[in-house]
Amino acid sequence: MGDVKEKVVVLASGRGSNFQAIAEAIDTGKLSHLTLTALIASKPSAGALTIAQQKNIPSFTLCLQENRAQYETELKNLLLNLQPRWICLAGFLLVLGKPIVQTFPNQIINIHPSLLPKYKGLRAQKQALEAGETETGCTVHFVTEELDSGGIILQKRLPILPDDTEQSLSARLLPLEHETYVEALLLLSQMDRMGKF
Ligand code: GRF
Repeated sequence: MGDVKEKVVVLASGRGSNFQAIAEAIDTGKLSHLTLTALIASKPSAGALTIAQQKNIPSFTLCLQENRAQYETELKNLLLNLQPRWICLAGFLLVLGKPIVQTFPNQIINIHPSLLPKYKGLRAQKQALEAGETETGCTVHFVTEELDSGGIILQKRLPILPDDTEQSLSARLLPLEHETYVEALLLLSQMDRMGKF
């Protein structure tokens, strides 16, 4: 898909398995049109930081702080310096506010472990189980100021088994999340080339 790689920055707060899936898809050529410019973590204990180190991906730790406006200004400035084409949230525990969302329109995407618009927010797998659903899934969507609410890019479905627990369901959903995030990034760039944004 051409020579100039599109820059991706991933924002993560935890384990970082979606970040790893994106990094590996770039390494193996599935997302050969992308380059990972940086990982930004919101806390020093984020597992994603270890993955970035192992893979020699530049990383920044911007600790969440009381003053949210100040935090978002710092985050926005860092992102502006990095000049990403795409900003991927992967388990990032902050709902981004207007200044960032409006600075990067149609550039920030997120993965959520439910079939949005159902079960927004935390512990979406538990919410689906408690609602008695027989299937759930995951969604990659654009980020707006409203939690888990932007336009949907790609969704994949997964049956809920009768003896599923929150843990078993989350574990089965995770590989599907990885696959969906990678496919969504492919799709996005294809749509971009077709002038959809
Ligand atoms: C994933 O379940 C993702 O859908 C949600 O947070 C979790 C992050 O997991 N937004 P990981 O850090 O990518 O392993």
